[in-house]
Amino acid sequence: MKILAIETSCDETALALLNLDKESEKFQVLDHILYSQINEHSQYGGVVPALAARLHNKKLPVMLQEFINRNGRDIDSIAVTVGPGLEPSLYVGVNLANLLSEALGVPLIPVNHMHGHMFSGLLDENLVGTASIEYPFIAYTISGGHTELVLVKAYNDYEIIGITQDDAAGEAFDKVAKMLNLSYPGGPKVSKLAESGDSEAIQFPRPMINSGDGRMSFSGLKTAVLYYIKDNPPQNEQDIANICASFEQAVIDVLVAKLNWAVNTYNVRQIIIGGGVTANLKLRQSFENYATQNGVNLIIPNKILSTDNAIMIGVIACLDIIYGVENRESKVNGSLSI
Ligand code: KG4
Ligand code: ZN
Repeated sequence: MKILAIETSCDETALALLNLDKESEKFQVLDHILYSQINEHSQYGGVVPALAARLHNKKLPVMLQEFINRNGRDIDSIAVTVGPGLEPSLYVGVNLANLLSEALGVPLIPVNHMHGHMFSGLLDENLVGTASIEYPFIAYTISGGHTELVLVKAYNDYEIIGITQDDAAGEAFDKVAKMLNLSYPGGPKVSKLAESGDSEAIQFPRPMINSGDGRMSFSGLKTAVLYYIKDNPPQNEQDIANICASFEQAVIDVLVAKLNWAVNTYNVRQIIIGGGVTANLKLRQSFENYATQNGVNLIIPNKILSTDNAIMIGVIACLDIIYGVENRESKVNGSLSI
């Protein structure tokens, strides 16, 4: 059966078409398309909710037309992100999904965006996957809006075991970038500059690293960078690179320490990471080293799956069908929890 998935929770407008073979529990991405609004938002230093909704409204129908031209109208279900995210943006996707579901006479499958990140590692590099994975595993979602450690005990049985108390890790990257006059989104720019910096040049704090639980905090670190820049205005490229590298290292140290806490506390041998920050190469290397040294299996989804996309929304729809999960809440909810 074919599932059309729609994602409009933040600043990416995305569609994906997946084929699910219920018998073998295999699913496969047939096509996908994504429009990133980053260029439109970057001049404002962050995502502007009203502009995001307007751009989704403008782009989504055009993209859908193109998608139908390419793939036809043979669709058995419509999956759509209902939260969490920016509500005006979510409504654009959900309204269209409802309309399509009515017009085609096919079911609507509401999807939690965070579930998508948690299971995006089920697809391989050819965008083919199956429902089979060993439980329990830890899903570590590190993005601009979330930094969350989730214990996945079984499909649809989740417990948040670690979460940031203030800023998300990606948000801290974006704010530090702003302090250095780098454009939004700052994460990729900070990590690029960090490549030529010395990660030990400045000893930034590692907030809550020894708290002995899953709580994380990145706001104090961000403020420490702000004070450092005030007291020591960078004089050249190398100074900027050192700030970026030292900040990046502090974030990674905290993220790895919390992963280590979770692995030991819950005795879990498998981890799936997701969210835009996991595009960071140094973070990937640090997580890989950790996994090798501690004998845990680390699944790092390919890059189009780690940032926001519609494919992962389609994956959750496939899993809901395979596991017979029905009647999820279909109302838009910007602060929907896992
Ligand atoms: O998952 P995502 O695409 O969107 C949501 O926030 O849901 O994540 C975007 C975040 C931004 O904060 C961006 O700065 C950060 O991911 N990011 C990075 C890198 N690439 C993207 N942070 C650090 N290093 C990177 N290479
Ligand atoms: Zn996301």
